[in-house]
Amino acid sequence: MRVSVIGLGYVGLVTSAGLAEWGHDVVGVEASEARLSLLREGRLPFYEPGLDELVGRHGGTGRLRFASPAEAEEEINASEIVFIAVGTHDGNGGWQTDTACAALESIVPHMADDATLVIRSTLPPEFVDTLAGIVREHRRDHGKGAIPVLLNPEFTREARAIQDFMHPDRIVLGVIDDPEQIGVERTQRLYEQAEAPIVVLRGLDAAFSKLGANLFLATKISFANELAALCDAYGAQVDQVVSAMAYDTRIGGAFLRPGVGFGGSCLPHQVSMTVKAAMEIGIPTPLLAAVDHINHRQRDQFVERITESVTDIEGAKVALLGLTFKPHTDDLRDAPSLTIADALLKRGARVVAYDPMADAAERAAELVPGLEIAASVSDAIADADAIGLITEWPEFSEIDWTSARGSVRGAAIVDGRNALSPDRVAEAGFSYRGFGRGYAPASEAGVLQPENGRTPIAIQPDVGAVSLPATAIPAQSMRLAERVGRSD
Ligand SMILES: NC(=O)c1ccc[n+]([C@@H]2O[C@H](COP(=O)([O-])OP(=O)(O)OC[C@H]3O[C@@H](n4cnc5c(N)ncnc54)[C@H](O)[C@@H]3O)[C@@H](O)[C@H]2O)c1
Repeated sequence: MRVSVIGLGYVGLVTSAGLAEWGHDVVGVEASEARLSLLREGRLPFYEPGLDELVGRHGGTGRLRFASPAEAEEEINASEIVFIAVGTHDGNGGWQTDTACAALESIVPHMADDATLVIRSTLPPEFVDTLAGIVREHRRDHGKGAIPVLLNPEFTREARAIQDFMHPDRIVLGVIDDPEQIGVERTQRLYEQAEAPIVVLRGLDAAFSKLGANLFLATKISFANELAALCDAYGAQVDQVVSAMAYDTRIGGAFLRPGVGFGGSCLPHQVSMTVKAAMEIGIPTPLLAAVDHINHRQRDQFVERITESVTDIEGAKVALLGLTFKPHTDDLRDAPSLTIADALLKRGARVVAYDPMADAAERAAELVPGLEIAASVSDAIADADAIGLITEWPEFSEIDWTSARGSVRGAAIVDGRNALSPDRVAEAGFSYRGFGRGYAPASEAGVLQPENGRTPIAIQPDVGAVSLPATAIPAQSMRLAERVGRSD
């Protein structure tokens, strides 16, 4: 099928490459000249695992081409389906629809009479019901008839976007304007290789199915953080608690990992905007307001824990491990690291960060004046008074803490993702604090103190709470790890 994709950000570029992989003929249209020239040179404007390979492969065969809006008129006219995947954030925690409206105005008149328009961008609910009228008006103004208009919300996770696009749990199509079901039938054919259930809904219901999924995932993360606070207060260990809860099929373990909370371009923005927009129409959303509050509190608590771990935060060197909002991405949008680094600098600390994504680290330094960037973990932690882990990049689990102990000034670690082994860290001579895991004083491996200073508790082995025959443990551990999942 011939397809155009307007906007080559995370969503548009992954959609373009995935469709080309299924054999469709795709033109990706991008307004930013800088982004377009990178793509034409075979380079990607951001990092997403596996995407460079797909873009390289299909760029080479010509099945995936890139064009500016001005160059793309003919291609758009020849497309059976045109996707819109432009941004809808105002960069300030709110929605904006100006970019989508401008794209519709310039694209819709060039579409063929039998083509289908599919909106992939996340839209504010109140905008959804205006879409059919906007598109019909642009067609009428150019003497053209109505075309089918659908929503196709995006559920892919950054860092797993290719896998999620090629093998989604479900595909949702929201009908905005398609009285004869031509658009639905055609888009179903486009996706037939995905082998996923295709759920066809009214447009507004489709938009809410996306919003609802994100709000629920955010709620799970804030719930895990509330649970972790209770575990800290009573002396329970949240990892053990969640691994037992995860066996319950009504609950599942994904997104139940406490820490510094959620970041990125979707969850924080959608929670806070939903609360704000609902308030404007007189609908209280106390649960979501609490989700938002807890998420911000986690960042504050991390800063408090770092502050408490040094004699005087003013002048102390704090090493931050990880800056991106999650591992395997270079995305810094609403990354907890930025708020945390800024707060520590305001308290007078010297903050030196390391992230495996060197470009992202440089951008972080521009966003947070005063933040210093180190070229390696060892440079970051040299002479540090405290170390804070913010992003659970796998390489941080491999750090040799015994040799690291020799290069630091203060031996305190605050683990913002519960990613490290408290036992190994304490054995190496560091004190350890995570979230919901108690407090391990330096050199007392195997002993965690509850946060309130009550009786110390023994650290349980990973599957200690589960009674299994020895031979069953490895597979069971793996399943537990999968169920507990990552909190992003
Ligand atoms: N990033 C995610 O993980 C994610 C996940 C789900 C949904 N979404 C939603 O998908 C949409 C896109 O998100 P994104 O992260 O890919 O955005 P982005 O800002 O990274 O990319 C959008 C791209 O569109 C381009 N653009 C804008 N107007 C254009 C036009 N008229 N013609 C051609 N190109 C144009 C911009 O230059 C930019 O490169 C948003 O609504 C977002 O909320 C994003």
